[in-house]
Amino acid sequence: MFLTKPLVYAPCSTGGQKIRYILGPADDFMNHENGNEPVPRRCCSAIRAFPRHKITESLNKMTTKRLGRFDRLQKNHPNGLNLRTISLYTYKITAQARSAFSRWILCPVLFLGYVCIMTSVSPALAFEPLLPIPTTIAYNRPKALLGRALFSDPILSLDKTISCASCHDLNQGGSDPAPCSTGVKSQQGVMQSPTVFNSVFNFRQFWDGRAADLKDQVKGPIESEIEMQMTPVLVEQRLNNSPDYLRAFRDVYGHNSIKFDEVTDAIAEFEKALITPNSRFDRFLRGEIALSSQENEGYLLFKELGCITCHNGLNMGGNSFQKLGVLNPVIRDERYNDRFKLTLNERDLSVYKVPTLRNIELTSPYFHDGSKKDLHDALKIMTFHNLGMDLTNKENNQLVAFLHTLTGQSPEILGIPSAWPELEQPPSPPE
Ligand code: HEC
Ligand code: HEC
Repeated sequence: MFLTKPLVYAPCSTGGQKIRYILGPADDFMNHENGNEPVPRRCCSAIRAFPRHKITESLNKMTTKRLGRFDRLQKNHPNGLNLRTISLYTYKITAQARSAFSRWILCPVLFLGYVCIMTSVSPALAFEPLLPIPTTIAYNRPKALLGRALFSDPILSLDKTISCASCHDLNQGGSDPAPCSTGVKSQQGVMQSPTVFNSVFNFRQFWDGRAADLKDQVKGPIESEIEMQMTPVLVEQRLNNSPDYLRAFRDVYGHNSIKFDEVTDAIAEFEKALITPNSRFDRFLRGEIALSSQENEGYLLFKELGCITCHNGLNMGGNSFQKLGVLNPVIRDERYNDRFKLTLNERDLSVYKVPTLRNIELTSPYFHDGSKKDLHDALKIMTFHNLGMDLTNKENNQLVAFLHTLTGQSPEILGIPSAWPELEQPPSPPE
């Protein structure tokens, strides 16, 4: 009988300024006390800390062939690995050995296993740490089409000037090209509007993760004083006065009066369909195309520098909360909704849900405050504050070239492929 467990790898500083990387079984150095939020315990309680080039060597050896096995593990975490996972390795140990010899035997065995991976005696244990997003997703089409109409209809805002699409431009990467959005009566919010594309893969919604899922999220903007300023009762009144909506809802939900719950249900169903498959990177992961050498270099850097510790899983983000300023703290501005405002736990100061990097070239400006318009500038912030290092211009360009391969196809349900950058037609998805 075999046990399969993920090994995770994360940067940490082990005294002094030097950044080392640790690799260890998730449970050994992830602290799950806080429910969904795995945070490393003391770095060095993990098996060992290793210099970067060692990790890089092993990551470079990963091949797409191993995705199949990765996929199986991923099934247990459909929303992306809910861990601070850089590369998911598996190690197999017999349950018997585990219970009998416990840690004394286990640790050296694991360490040996690790050495095997690193020295590629057994590279078969390694996997590509990222996954392509699926080419299709199951959703209820009639509900989603109804949701599509509601999403772009200002009827859901008090003064009938604002729809969801006002702040989540479906032609513009699903986010707002302005640093902060304008709601009803021309009021300005503070947070940058994140993309609604692929948000179905996020483990929570909003920068601070206050909504558990898409349906829960929809109520937020509708009832927000700044955004749409409506109440569920008012929404029901308005829609029930519209013969077109009455007919459409009756066809989908089968009765004669529209309920607020059905409104949020239909919109969430539409958002489910907003996936952007077949990016060049996903096609690369599936072994269909090669990346250019600059893009490849960028991808290696992405793994080597440790971006992947936080930006991983299906959405390359959206599956953990992390601090902005892990290594070089930032000055916190109280106006923004970080996790601290929700939990009042000091550890959550300047902590946000890690944003997705999918379609990143289309979702400028960046960060919770929309403070950086240019992707190069955003990367300088990331590497300095979250990785404790500076990028050379060359590295920055390589990373940007890689990030540009993350642009997928416009969601099929929108029927607007022309609005997106030209993509080669990918082969039809397998049955
Ligand atoms: C006035 C602008 C505005 C309107 C209108 C608006 N949103 Fe948003 N949306 C935002 C902002 C800003 C955030 C981030 C707020 C935060 O995290 O505190 C956000 C967050 C989201 C998220 C979370 C994405 C993620 O990755 O966390 C989803 C999903 C979303 N909005 C969908 C909708 C839907 C559906 C509607 C219509 C019912 C809507 N929005 C209306 C500005 C807007
Ligand atoms: C320790 C975790 C961590 C690491 C490591 C990390 N990021 Fe981030 N990244 C975040 C968080 C958290 C945010 C959101 C911060 C905010 O908005 O205040 C973010 C935001 C971003 C954004 C802006 C996305 C948007 O839509 O606003 C980009 C681009 C980005 N990261 C790229 C990178 C790259 C490239 C690397 C490696 C050089 C990297 N990140 C390393 C956690 C991390």
